[in-house]
Amino acid sequence: MLSFLLFLLNFPHINASLYHPLVVWHGLGDSYSSPGMLNFSSMIRDIYPGIFIHSVFIEQAQDKDKRAGFFGNVDHQVGLVAEQLAAIPELKGGFDAIGFSQGGQFLRGYAERYNHPPIRNLITFGSQHMGISDIPLCHPRDLLCQASRRIIKSAVYGHWAQSNLVQAQYFRDPTNFEAYLATNNFLVSINNEVAFSRNRTYAQNLASLNKLVLVLFSRDTTVVPKESAWFGSERSGKGHVLGTDTNPQGVLVEEKSKIIPMRLQPLYLGDWIGLRELDERNGVIFEVCEGEHMQLSGCWRDLVNQFVGK
Ligand SMILES: *[C@@H]1O[C@H](CO)[C@@H](O)[C@H](O)[C@H]1NC(C)=O
Ligand SMILES: *[C@@H]1O[C@H](CO)[C@@H](O)[C@H](O)[C@H]1NC(C)=O
Repeated sequence: MLSFLLFLLNFPHINASLYHPLVVWHGLGDSYSSPGMLNFSSMIRDIYPGIFIHSVFIEQAQDKDKRAGFFGNVDHQVGLVAEQLAAIPELKGGFDAIGFSQGGQFLRGYAERYNHPPIRNLITFGSQHMGISDIPLCHPRDLLCQASRRIIKSAVYGHWAQSNLVQAQYFRDPTNFEAYLATNNFLVSINNEVAFSRNRTYAQNLASLNKLVLVLFSRDTTVVPKESAWFGSERSGKGHVLGTDTNPQGVLVEEKSKIIPMRLQPLYLGDWIGLRELDERNGVIFEVCEGEHMQLSGCWRDLVNQFVGK
């Protein structure tokens, strides 16, 4: 009798676990419980009734959470989120994850460094996997954005910026690459770009994903370069500093292209982060959403149908 009662009490959980749970990490200028994020969750629940969804937060108060997207130490933030996710019983058996914009590379950082509980499919929308080489213009009334932009432009590779300004921690300037390697503390690390400190666990964890879905926005002017969403980056101009101009088969890269594509990146060729292993078993999916940065309306549904919940 008692066990039957317990069964009844547990029933909602059993019901919810019909679908694989989902974790979402919002983008810059947004917060975990903004109307847009709540709306996104509710649209996903329309597809998968009862699915468990957790929206990642750094701060409980919405305005503070928004601020934490601009100011803070990304290593600490990702660590905090790892503790948060590990404490949620519904996620114990793993989850799918969606990262919006910078939330995408932060979730990748989680996967590489923690992945406990593990991510199954990771979808990143317009994320900056190879960083940004310029700070996009802010809306004239967005004072938070303007303040952080001003500081980043002046002192991006300073110690203070690297532990306090979120965007500085994924600013990857091809014309100042040595400074980036020497001082950046987040992107350099999750991209395993420094030979003596490469961490094999990062590669094993990333390669353990089922699918990594990389979504690029076709007319993205916010992320520079937009191909960062697909692990592309700008050439340094000097060419050989950032990458090779030939791939292992000796095929010359189209000279006019200013972008080094994923499969020609040193981090891919040397498989520093497990991306090549994942790609070679067809685990990396390239997708395009038509439109400006984070114009999700036309394209999120198919991806959610394909890679979330089941
Ligand atoms: C959520 O957003 C969609 C698309 O922008 C809109 O059509 C819908 O009415 C919104 N739903 C709610 C509950 O706000
Ligand atoms: C490599 O990363 C793992 C997972 O984050 C960590 O536990 C380990 O200490 C790291 N190893 C080194 C040498 O830093």
